[in-house]
Amino acid sequence: MPLCAACSPTSETSASPQDDANKMPGHWLLAKLGKRVLRPGGLQLTRFMLEHLDIQTRDDVVEFAPGLGVTARLTLEKRPSSYTAVERDETAAATVRRHLSGARQRCHLGTAEQTGLPDQSATVVYGEAMLTMQGAEQKRRIVGEAFRLLKPGGRYGIHEMSFTPDDLPKVVQEDISREMSRNIHVGARPLSASEWRDLLQSVGFRIASETSAPMDLLEPGRLFRDEGFLGALRFVAKVLRSPEARSRVLSMRRIFRKHRRHLAAISLVAVKP
Ligand SMILES: C[S@@+](CC[C@H](N)C(=O)[O-])C[C@H]1O[C@@H](n2cnc3c(N)ncnc32)[C@H](O)[C@@H]1O
Repeated sequence: MPLCAACSPTSETSASPQDDANKMPGHWLLAKLGKRVLRPGGLQLTRFMLEHLDIQTRDDVVEFAPGLGVTARLTLEKRPSSYTAVERDETAAATVRRHLSGARQRCHLGTAEQTGLPDQSATVVYGEAMLTMQGAEQKRRIVGEAFRLLKPGGRYGIHEMSFTPDDLPKVVQEDISREMSRNIHVGARPLSASEWRDLLQSVGFRIASETSAPMDLLEPGRLFRDEGFLGALRFVAKVLRSPEARSRVLSMRRIFRKHRRHLAAISLVAVKP
């Protein structure tokens, strides 16, 4: 889910899902219930993004907002020259660090809009399900930071929630954003496909590839594909055991279904000229 803000899986180990199920941001609730894949297009769009980022052993990779480290692990399988994650949630950062080893694999506690990393120190930057939750200015600052970090020829990948069709009136977009943000308890501000492209182009990127998928985060088929048979069963069992969690998960799914015609997942890979 492209949600998330100052939310935290912190209580994953210290509280049961029902303790604060009514208040916590949707994606951390799902994480506490055992869901690992928290991005709108699932592993399918993650794989598209990674394929088009074409990470090689010579690459210096920066990941914004790695969350629970699901994509970090796929990236590390490609043995890049270095991997640096920047995550603002302390507990999430600690979770990611468990998958890292050696001095060339790091996860810093910090923000994607101001990473503190040197200019042109990366050849690949990507982030998933983290721009949608930001306001317009913050989105621009994060994309601008990706541009600053990349060497010329470097690739930037995003995987976010989008509005569809492209000409969906602003007023409808705003209504859906408001309703989702209220329901999910975190900012949910998707853009249309052309607005995502414009955002990346506005800081200097050239769009190299793009794909989309249905926004099926909480649909049974996607759940089984992303979490695997046992993972999906474990998730369903936990949801059924907690009435508060169940009511929130079903409420999130209702919102996504209600706006199904106007929501999608998008991945773009862009190049710094
Ligand atoms: C919905 S989760 C997605 C996590 C992961 N990218 C995924 O797709 O599974 C959003 C993550 O973004 C992080 N985050 C949000 N805004 C951030 C920012 N400005 N800088 C760094 N991390 C941020 C949150 O702490 C959280 O881990």
